[in-house]
Amino acid sequence: MTQNRGLELVDRDEQGVDRAFREDVLEGLSETQKATPARWLYDDAGSELFEDITQVEEYYPTRCETEILRARGAEFASAVGPGRAVVEFGSGSSVKTPLLLEAIDPAAYVPLDIAGDFLRAAAEDLGRKFPDLPIYPVEADFMRRVELPAEVADMPKLGFFPGSTIGNMVPRTAVDLLRTMRATLGEGSMLLIGMDLIKKRKLLEAAYDDAAGVTASFNLNMARRINRELGGTIPVEKLHHEARWNDDFARVEMHLVADEDIAFEVAGRSFTMAKGETIHTENSHKFSRRSSNALLLAGGWTPVGRWLDGKDRFSVVLAEATVPRNAP
Ligand code: AVI
Repeated sequence: MTQNRGLELVDRDEQGVDRAFREDVLEGLSETQKATPARWLYDDAGSELFEDITQVEEYYPTRCETEILRARGAEFASAVGPGRAVVEFGSGSSVKTPLLLEAIDPAAYVPLDIAGDFLRAAAEDLGRKFPDLPIYPVEADFMRRVELPAEVADMPKLGFFPGSTIGNMVPRTAVDLLRTMRATLGEGSMLLIGMDLIKKRKLLEAAYDDAAGVTASFNLNMARRINRELGGTIPVEKLHHEARWNDDFARVEMHLVADEDIAFEVAGRSFTMAKGETIHTENSHKFSRRSSNALLLAGGWTPVGRWLDGKDRFSVVLAEATVPRNAP
């Protein structure tokens, strides 16, 4: 059975189980270091918990990026010029998108998102705030090259990818995405991208392990989701959330740690975890000025501007799709 979730075709078996989810989970739980792809954190419960995370005191990225967008709009405007079609990768229901659109005098707004319902709701919401701005929502997976609407074909483009979502990808995937964005936007385009910064371990780990336990619930929801959707018997009460700074890879990792030896089943398959063993559920890479420049350059983008919040915690980087020179 194939169900249409927006344009995202969810391939379900006779029991209604999402085959891709089951495959990813069974494969990930069979690895020596158990791991589940972070995208499965975002079912309805997970998406709501992520919204809650953005409000907790310790989670600074949303607040800091919003501060930058609010304070530096005039500078973005002079760097990008008027009349661009703003193409947002993932549709913005948040306060961030209006801040950018207000600042730069765009000619059009093109939100791209795989979740059709969410996309349309966000587009309607923005349409009310910006009645004179042409809005062309596109249901698409932005991890692949997207055909933009004919109406914006001749406009210069500004890609917008806030939130440091790029940090949730390992470098190879991040570079692939940056190159795909360049192919979607075309020559002469620009990209405004949020990139979270490397900082003290304590601050980083606290941001991913808040005192109220919201991030812990978000992470544990992965195990709950496996139980709910894949007939799992994971004893969730015997797992705890951990946020670990991995200095070699400059990333915060989320893990689910077993408090004691446990055994469970998922989709009819048996698994065990020894006390202290973990399921790795997410990476959130952090960047220095140099590493963010290197990543962007590898993806075909030349950084031309960089703005930080007042506490130097988060960066918003502007880059240009320039033709790379081979020399020297
Ligand atoms: C969506 N993404 C940028 C968040 C982050 O900071 O990596 C996801 C998140 N995970 C735990 N807290 C927030």
